Amino acid sequence: MFRLSTTSARQAVQRLATQARYQSTSSATASSTMTAKNMSMTAAGVATVGALAYLSMESADANMAADGLHPPAFPWEHKKNLATFDHAAIRRGYQVYKEVCAVCHSLDRIAWRNLIDVSHTENEVKEMAEEHEYTDGPNDVGDMFQRPGKPSDYMPNPYANEEQARAGNAGAYPPDLSLMIKARHGGADYVFSLLTGYQDPPAGVEIREGLNFNPYFPGGAIGMARVLYDGLVEYEDGTPATTSQMAKDVVIFLSWAAEPEMDERKKMGMKALTLLVILTGLSVYLKRHKWAAIKTRKILYNPPAPKKH
Ligand code: HEC
Repeated sequence: MFRLSTTSARQAVQRLATQARYQSTSSATASSTMTAKNMSMTAAGVATVGALAYLSMESADANMAADGLHPPAFPWEHKKNLATFDHAAIRRGYQVYKEVCAVCHSLDRIAWRNLIDVSHTENEVKEMAEEHEYTDGPNDVGDMFQRPGKPSDYMPNPYANEEQARAGNAGAYPPDLSLMIKARHGGADYVFSLLTGYQDPPAGVEIREGLNFNPYFPGGAIGMARVLYDGLVEYEDGTPATTSQMAKDVVIFLSWAAEPEMDERKKMGMKALTLLVILTGLSVYLKRHKWAAIKTRKILYNPPAPKKH
């Protein structure tokens, strides 16, 4: 792959140089004043530009391995200016998070109540929270006690602390996913590509025991194994649970988690813009109205009649 793009870069530079050379020849015939010195200067210039272009392409190649493959831009519906989140997808994505990702990843910044009227009804959320035990207290005699969850509780953490999390994942720490979409370059495109991008390492690439090859992860070796496989969850709305469908849904769920105010923000933005347009129209009208008398006035000069002596 690298060799391929290096060769094509070299070809591009050569093409560039050839074009420039033709241009300098034709301009030389056009103007007879072009001296040999000028031509060699031009050639030197072309060589410098070519070398710079070649070098910049080389470093782009090198960064690709270190920074991870750049994810393609996917046409996310919710990124459009007038679109809201796909709330059915948030609901499906929550299911994927809960059944798959929540085994390792926390979602610290989301409380159960945040899901109400977003993806679930209030009663559903109450039931979901009650399935988990939370430590509360102290009670009258100073003891902590366990109680079922309430909508105001935050999503439970799969591990008691970071050490336990690392111990359970061969030393790698599964990061909190609340702000993951905002925390990574490429956001939703990156996480989607990461989840669907697992493959066998190419020939010559050695991956250490316990790590997995993923070209989108910077460095190519990630501590998280592939987790999504076709048919892993069963969606209640009957959507076929393919790997890419689950990845898409969980990414939409995480996009919502990172930016729960997005729908409201876009609505406010529309209201503000509408008001602004109306008010601008009104003020333009008012300005013209007020200035009409001044702008349309006619100043006449009637010279006094010459005095008759
Ligand atoms: C078996 C445990 C496990 C499961 C299940 C799991 N992950 Fe991970 N995940 C990890 C670990 C460990 C890391 C840290 C990898 C590293 O730093 O090498 C990680 C890292 C990540 C990262 C960060 C990558 C980066 O750029 O740093 C994202 C995003 C992620 N996981 C998303 C998910 C999603 C979404 C799911 C559910 C579909 C999921 N994970 C399921 C263990 C898991």
